[in-house]
Amino acid sequence: MPVLSNEEINNIRKSVNIVDIIGNYINLEKKGKNYFGICPFHDDHTPSMSVSEEKQIYTCFVCGASGNVFTFIRDYENVSFIEAVNKIASISGITLSQNINYQKKYDKEYKIYDLAVKYYKNNLKSKLGINAKKYLNERFLNDEIIDEFDIGVSFNDNNLSKLLKSKNYDEDMLINIGLVNKNTDIYDIFRNRIMFPIHNSNGDAVGFSARIFENVSDSKYINTKETYIFKKGEILFNYHRAQLNAKKEKTLILCEGQMDAIRIYSSGIKNVCATMGTALTNYHINLIKKLKCKVILNMDSDSAGIKAALQNGELLNKNGIEVNILKLSNAKDPDEYIIKYGVDSYKDSLNHAISLFDFKLNYLKSNKNLNNADELSEYINQVINELNKSNDEILKNITINKLSEQYNIDKNILLNKLIKTENKEIISIKKVRKKINQNIKAVEEILYYMMNNVKYAKIFSKKLNYIPDKTYFDIEKDIQAYIILNNTINLADFISYINDIEKEKILKEIISNHNDSIEMTESEFISYIDIINKWINDKKINELKIELKNETDINKKKEITDLIAKIKRGSEL
Ligand code: UTP
Ligand code: MN
Repeated sequence: MPVLSNEEINNIRKSVNIVDIIGNYINLEKKGKNYFGICPFHDDHTPSMSVSEEKQIYTCFVCGASGNVFTFIRDYENVSFIEAVNKIASISGITLSQNINYQKKYDKEYKIYDLAVKYYKNNLKSKLGINAKKYLNERFLNDEIIDEFDIGVSFNDNNLSKLLKSKNYDEDMLINIGLVNKNTDIYDIFRNRIMFPIHNSNGDAVGFSARIFENVSDSKYINTKETYIFKKGEILFNYHRAQLNAKKEKTLILCEGQMDAIRIYSSGIKNVCATMGTALTNYHINLIKKLKCKVILNMDSDSAGIKAALQNGELLNKNGIEVNILKLSNAKDPDEYIIKYGVDSYKDSLNHAISLFDFKLNYLKSNKNLNNADELSEYINQVINELNKSNDEILKNITINKLSEQYNIDKNILLNKLIKTENKEIISIKKVRKKINQNIKAVEEILYYMMNNVKYAKIFSKKLNYIPDKTYFDIEKDIQAYIILNNTINLADFISYINDIEKEKILKEIISNHNDSIEMTESEFISYIDIINKWINDKKINELKIELKNETDINKKKEITDLIAKIKRGSEL
């Protein structure tokens, strides 16, 4: 496979500003020299990720995720490095010098899923599929919709397994991606079910949600198990189809079931996704943030749906996403609503979706008798409690006035219960740093400076040129090799050059442990070299002591003792 040169990769990197690119994925706020946002690589609640415009790198103070614009895209989108380079190149309108026919990281897995989707779809067209087809049609899913959503059916046989086997795919992989199981031979997992393919945000099918349609005693849906390509907490059903529409409409409709999403979408409202019945995760939030739009939460109408709306609404709000809530009446979910009342009525309801705060007030009211003084008092206290969570002074004012008028309560009593919002500091970076030993700290500092400045790399190779730890030493050699190739070095470009997991782990550690506020002088650099020198000597002395213990010859023993003394005096490396 042809490889792009460092120069070309570096030019592509320099064609964008990391702040703009990462800003497309997470909200960044400028504080001092750097930008801060919620880290997408761990369960973050305060902005722990900092992005340096000057250095064109990012680093998370909590989980240590660090790198350049390519590693961000690679890890966020779960693609290969070269795919990430390609993505940035196309954003900048740069044509690559070579037509790289790169493989997607999970190309094989996606191909297999593609085949499975086609297989189930084909079943539905066969004679045996007639009942499934009838079921779908009775649910008002016509051929066009079935085709667009690649809906299929599984039969009570092992024909998918046979088909996959005939293609010589690795059995372990087929099992690991959740399509088959194995006794003596592999066999099909999904049987007698309507098959809804589920796609990742790039539009690759990575799993199925499978619904019963005949044997009603079985569980309604079974889904593909969690696999390395299918994580329910990271996928929104229909996201790949909805994303452009949601950006355009500046709104995303979020419902619970895939049938709801299919119904809404095929009724012409194309900015809709489904959570597939799970609670929203931070990963979902990141997917939604990328769309830079507001969300209309349209969960089911039952009590579980109301709880889901409250919980998901809170999470969205906390992440700075505007939320409206639509609770439909006289139908259990959007699918049923549109079938019963038509799409125009549904659109009208969307326009009347209410704010999360109003939804909460309705919810608090719903099971209370406000004519009863105790219950009214409880209600008022709960409302004040909600207001105290908010920073919106206008909302507070309006609500207090309303409560005071509506229930004839002295306004001052209500106002006194409000906690004044201080200007809370949004960013409280807890620098969670592992205690690292002195030797490693010295090596990491040295490497950090070498990665940023040819001068330090030269000093190091002249003075020491050795590190008594293999991975660190390998990185040191990579730095020297990079400089020979490119005549220059900087951290953001050097990151692209490293393609080894172990080395990358250490690189992340170096970046996140480095104290940004300290600028090292040459003499400090040399004092770190002295520490490594001492480390080398200590190691040597320890080895000699072991040798000494095992040595029986008196003369040799003396030789070793002298050598140890000599090293201790520092006269020899
Ligand atoms: P619902 O029970 O609301 O299903 O579950 P639904 O969307 O209305 O489906 P239909 O109309 O009966 O066909 C909402 C979502 O939760 C997931 C599915 O993704 C479903 O779409 N779910 C539900 C499961 O994963 N397993 C189940 O047993 C049920
Ligand atoms: Mn339904």
